Amino acid sequence: MTTSFDAHSATWLAAESPAERAERDAGWHWAWGPAPVDEAPRQFLWDFTLAQALGDARLLIAAQKGLASVWLDGRSVHSSEDVMGGRELRDIALGSLAAGPHRLAVQVRLFHPFIKKPLEGGLAARLSGMSGGGAVQFLAPQAHDWLTRQGAAEGWQQTSIAPPWEAARPPAYDLEWRPTAPQGSRLLRRHVELPAAPLAATLTITALGGYEAEINGLRVGDARLAPENSDFRKRLLVQQHDVTALLRAGPNALGALVADGFYASEAIGRGRYPFGEAPRRLWARLEVTLPGGEQRLIATDEHWRSAAGPVTFAEIYHGETHDARLEQAGWSTPGFDDRAWEPAWAAPVPPCALNLQESPPIRAVMTRAAESITTLPNGDHVIDFGQNFAGWCRIQVKGEAGRTVTLRFAELLNADGSVDMSNLRAARCTDRYTLRGDAAGETWEPRFTYHGFRYVQVSGWPGELQAGNVEGVVAHSDLPVTGHFESSQPILQGLWHNTLWSQRSNFFGMPTDCPQRDERLGWTGDAQIFWPTAAYNMDVRGFTRRFLADLRASQQAGGAYMDTNPPALPAAGAPGWSDAGVVLPHTVWRHYGETALISEHWDSMERWMAWIAEPNVEGLWRQRRDVDFGDWLSLDAKSLMDETTPKLLTATACWARMLGLMVDMATAIGRSDRVAHFKGWQTRVQAAFQREFIRPDGRIGNDSHTGAILALAFGLVPPALLQAAADHLAANIRRRGTLLTTGFLGTPFSLDVLADHGHAGLAVDLLLRTEFPSWGYMVKRGATTIWERWNGDTGDLAMNSFNHYALGAITAFLYRRVAGVEAAAPGFAQLGVRPLMDPRLGAGRMSHDTVRGRIETAWGVDGDGCCWFELAVPPGLPASVQVPGAEAQQVGPGRHRFTRMA
Ligand code: BGC
Repeated sequence: MTTSFDAHSATWLAAESPAERAERDAGWHWAWGPAPVDEAPRQFLWDFTLAQALGDARLLIAAQKGLASVWLDGRSVHSSEDVMGGRELRDIALGSLAAGPHRLAVQVRLFHPFIKKPLEGGLAARLSGMSGGGAVQFLAPQAHDWLTRQGAAEGWQQTSIAPPWEAARPPAYDLEWRPTAPQGSRLLRRHVELPAAPLAATLTITALGGYEAEINGLRVGDARLAPENSDFRKRLLVQQHDVTALLRAGPNALGALVADGFYASEAIGRGRYPFGEAPRRLWARLEVTLPGGEQRLIATDEHWRSAAGPVTFAEIYHGETHDARLEQAGWSTPGFDDRAWEPAWAAPVPPCALNLQESPPIRAVMTRAAESITTLPNGDHVIDFGQNFAGWCRIQVKGEAGRTVTLRFAELLNADGSVDMSNLRAARCTDRYTLRGDAAGETWEPRFTYHGFRYVQVSGWPGELQAGNVEGVVAHSDLPVTGHFESSQPILQGLWHNTLWSQRSNFFGMPTDCPQRDERLGWTGDAQIFWPTAAYNMDVRGFTRRFLADLRASQQAGGAYMDTNPPALPAAGAPGWSDAGVVLPHTVWRHYGETALISEHWDSMERWMAWIAEPNVEGLWRQRRDVDFGDWLSLDAKSLMDETTPKLLTATACWARMLGLMVDMATAIGRSDRVAHFKGWQTRVQAAFQREFIRPDGRIGNDSHTGAILALAFGLVPPALLQAAADHLAANIRRRGTLLTTGFLGTPFSLDVLADHGHAGLAVDLLLRTEFPSWGYMVKRGATTIWERWNGDTGDLAMNSFNHYALGAITAFLYRRVAGVEAAAPGFAQLGVRPLMDPRLGAGRMSHDTVRGRIETAWGVDGDGCCWFELAVPPGLPASVQVPGAEAQQVGPGRHRFTRMA
């Protein structure tokens, strides 16, 4: 069972300044217009009178869906062309405003090109500025203070008000969005007096925001970006550290640096504070056992003090700004004088569950040196790390106080050698460090952001930049690595390498789609197709358990899993995406033999299965497909939602597969009562699929590659038509030019289906192909991670990540059929060995750490062109070996060698 904590057992200390608190207290109000009549923008007018002048006036303004333009007294103060943006928050400097009447005129966009229908929308605004007496004044108009209309003609900002302008009203539902401008970091600390060095001490700590804790000047633990991303309305992960060695007799100090973190940073579609409200909060309990057994609890309470920290801006997507001149040396040591600091105050107790983080934390796992540095004509330096990865840079710099070094991160370069950030969309991915001017030099790395990049452009560097001055820090969820694959075939080596690096980059608390652009979401579809590969590369047990708990936390009342977790986007239950709720526990059971996860997750899976079945009694998944992505990014798709394989087919195939997995899992946990139920449904869905999609000659659906692959992979083809269906598929692949047209759903199973049905040679052709489209094409074009699209190099940069593991899901095939090893029974209780032994695969070796020990294989081609294969089986693990052209045989522990005649 997950360990939970009582949220009331320590005070939630606000990590905000008095000014930020005053601003928060000023509140603001949404103003909405009636349902839109068409796609035209909506206009809003607010006429107000200032009793006295305001200096340094600011307008904080938020709009749903997008903020097109803002005018103050007829003067444009903001305008944007970005029709793709979602919710928008702007902090606009207005200068001085005279006493007297003013008009704010705002145009809000209601239309999003993807959603294809106009949406209700509106805005919220808050004006602030200094009054004559030096106090900050806030004006936050109510909904009815605004007048609104849609489709006003040119010059509307100056209009004298007459119908059809009408009073705006508050929205009819809670937007769950309380926009707040990005905030700088806060330091929180307290003094702790101990009569003796403790025998044991545990720090249990978390924050709504990002935090790093220190005791007596030393950093606690090595987790990065804690607490990791989750749906903070439901679930917040808590970190626990043994801090015995950090405490001593006498005075001690406990400190935390708190910044925006995942809690307050933007999420696509939801804006800042996507799953909660300001303020950011720190929660901690230090439990100490003294000699003699006395227990002491030092928790966050009114004894803590707070001050501004040196991180003046920190955002997951946009980057971090650190002004080293604002550092307070020794702030977390006992001798520090904190009398100038403010007393910290209590913030509300959040409604979420506090769950101990049991999965491996994000850590800085390794560093990378620059491979090359070029200098641009403007003096900027561009560093190439030779590898795309997720993390950040650590710099060592010597220069004068006040100089700012700027780092901009990217996956691509422009023709002139500068970084090309266009595929990052709204993510600004920029770090800034202002030097304090240490004569001995200074070292810095950000703490509250991360980037997906290969290149970094450095501006403002003092003097010559040496390779050792900027290091790449590779960060990810620190799962044990369990797979290693080496091949003399550069394409295979490249594919394995690129997939591993995409897994590293995207196992980041959540399994994300990509680590760089303004997305980085836990897309369930990407996860479910990738999991079998992931489980070869790393021990994914803890990581899966954590993600399934998140899936359950956001599961809809009806039973659908959200398509993204945390659920940044409102879509749920997409076929091939929400399947993750069933595929992940099944994968973990098959790979590690663990049934505990199935039991823990069982009721949730039952609800998901029931939700699909309820309106689809005939056995085709017609209803409740919500946003059906289908075979996403398949080769023939002209636009994103194109149906290159009928979506009813892909959905029904996914459903049939899940039902089969449910049968397996019900059997595994002894739920014989449910085995018959799911078997019954599986039979019904299979029959319906066959009626609807399988033609008498063995062709399937619209004869697309993915249609045939899914039908064959998920056991939907009647035995009499199996070979015909596979032969049609093979002929179809050849006809297209020996290439696959598959997208996310068909690709992972493509080569297994061919190899399992007499077309192993074709599978190898596809695996080794280097023309477009293929995995080899990416390798040949210099990819160091897996591309999101087959045509990453020419694809539309509006959706084009170079570090997306989905198409790398084929890497499990390398382990299964090149290195030859799979679990023939759950947890490798029986080893299945079926190497292809094709001379074109060259030589190689593989090792995989299973729960039953390490398995090693090696393969190659000898002087007479005969393929050989060697296998080392650990004790107690029976193996059934099937090499081409020979009968299956059982072998025991030890080393075995097999040859296939040329
Ligand atoms: C993501 C995908 C995801 C998809 C949903 C994209 O924006 O990057 O990997 O699965 O949306 O179709």
